[in-house]
Amino acid sequence: MPDWKRSQELLDRSKQTMAGGVSSNVRLQSQPFPLFFERAEGAMIYDVDGNAYIDYVLGQGPMLLGHSHPAVLDAVNAAMRQGQLYAGQHPLEIEVAEALVRLVPCAELCRFGLSGSEIVQAAMRLARAVTGRVKILRFEGHYHGWFDNVLISLAPPVDASTPRTPSRPHLMSKGQVESVRDEFIVLPWNDLAAVEALFAEQGSEIAAVMTEGMMCNTGAIPPQPGFLEGLRRLCDQSGALLFMDEVITGFRLGLHGAQGRFGVIPDLATFAKAMAGGFANAALVGKREYMARFAADVNHSGTFNSNVISMAASAAALKELERDNGVIYSDLERVGADLMGGIQEIAGRLGMSVLVQGFPTAFHMSFTELDQIRDYRDYAIHCDKARYDHFTLEMMKRGVRLIGRGIWYISAAHTADHIARTLSAVEGSLRAVA
Ligand SMILES: Cc1ncc(COP(=O)(O)O)c(C=O)c1O
Repeated sequence: MPDWKRSQELLDRSKQTMAGGVSSNVRLQSQPFPLFFERAEGAMIYDVDGNAYIDYVLGQGPMLLGHSHPAVLDAVNAAMRQGQLYAGQHPLEIEVAEALVRLVPCAELCRFGLSGSEIVQAAMRLARAVTGRVKILRFEGHYHGWFDNVLISLAPPVDASTPRTPSRPHLMSKGQVESVRDEFIVLPWNDLAAVEALFAEQGSEIAAVMTEGMMCNTGAIPPQPGFLEGLRRLCDQSGALLFMDEVITGFRLGLHGAQGRFGVIPDLATFAKAMAGGFANAALVGKREYMARFAADVNHSGTFNSNVISMAASAAALKELERDNGVIYSDLERVGADLMGGIQEIAGRLGMSVLVQGFPTAFHMSFTELDQIRDYRDYAIHCDKARYDHFTLEMMKRGVRLIGRGIWYISAAHTADHIARTLSAVEGSLRAVA
């Protein structure tokens, strides 16, 4: 049983000067409590009490290359000594933009920001400017950042009788303005018939359909066959834009993102997390005819956009990912697949109902009788979240750090040895929660 004494002391101290002792509400939910860390390298992260963990949190996704990747650190170190922020252009940003245009199918022009939350706002503004419409269709259980207008229906109350028709957007925080409810229509994900019915009635009012390519903020839920293609068709027929939020899936589901993996090309897409090796960077990319509006009549600004550190980190990270035509992804997929299979094998042997679903670089584990989770409702109604919480605590005790909502991220630094050690912790933890 690890000792978390120093972390506890620091949490008590940080609560005196920081609300809840943390800087993001997501961290309040950590097991055993919000811990303090002092170092991370490769697949490992170390807390202030000297405990080491194999890390599947990976900074909530960005550390696809592993922590403290030398090529990224060297590039940042060299570039930042030249200068940090010019409020002007510099060649590194062209390098990153050219990489995005080369790698991302829908990318003809780019704009850079700093976080997923803010770059999503730029995409929505652009879609509204292009179409002259206001309403955006989005889906239950999806997360598109913490801003007022998008923090809706991430975890709405549902039961088996909740109709699969447009629902009143569910506000997730006190202080959100009610009027955002008029700007969005919310439907269950993966239900093309529901989307078709909506478009038949209100298609001419919809500016954009906003979706992840694979739903990663509730479960790891791939699109049902034909779902993304259906969204593409309905957008084309009605003049709405298809906006794919690839903040998680970008460069994680493959070198060409979810759009490359599923073969459905959106009009606009946002990237962040894995595109910068752990540094803050985000991009909106899309078709030239739409993106060009930023150089005409649509505003997008930001003091720190395309700062030297972000661009150096992205240029280096993308170079690593693209090396030898993305060979890194075959290793990632193999290691992740071994882990997914291993968890399922252990659960089966112990006679426990565990579902492992998704793709090797981003998969989801849950305690459920279902053999597939297709949307938020499957997760909310049929998964035992209290048990998963207990499981994550048991894993922490055994030196493995997981995200509480059940998604596991793999990095290029995870090896067969890490997987073997993780599976041994999985066996012990499953026995403990059985
Ligand atoms: C799909 C998606 N969009 C947007 C965001 C917001 O990104 P950030 O936390 O960088 O603001 C997230 C964060 O997890 C996300 O998963």
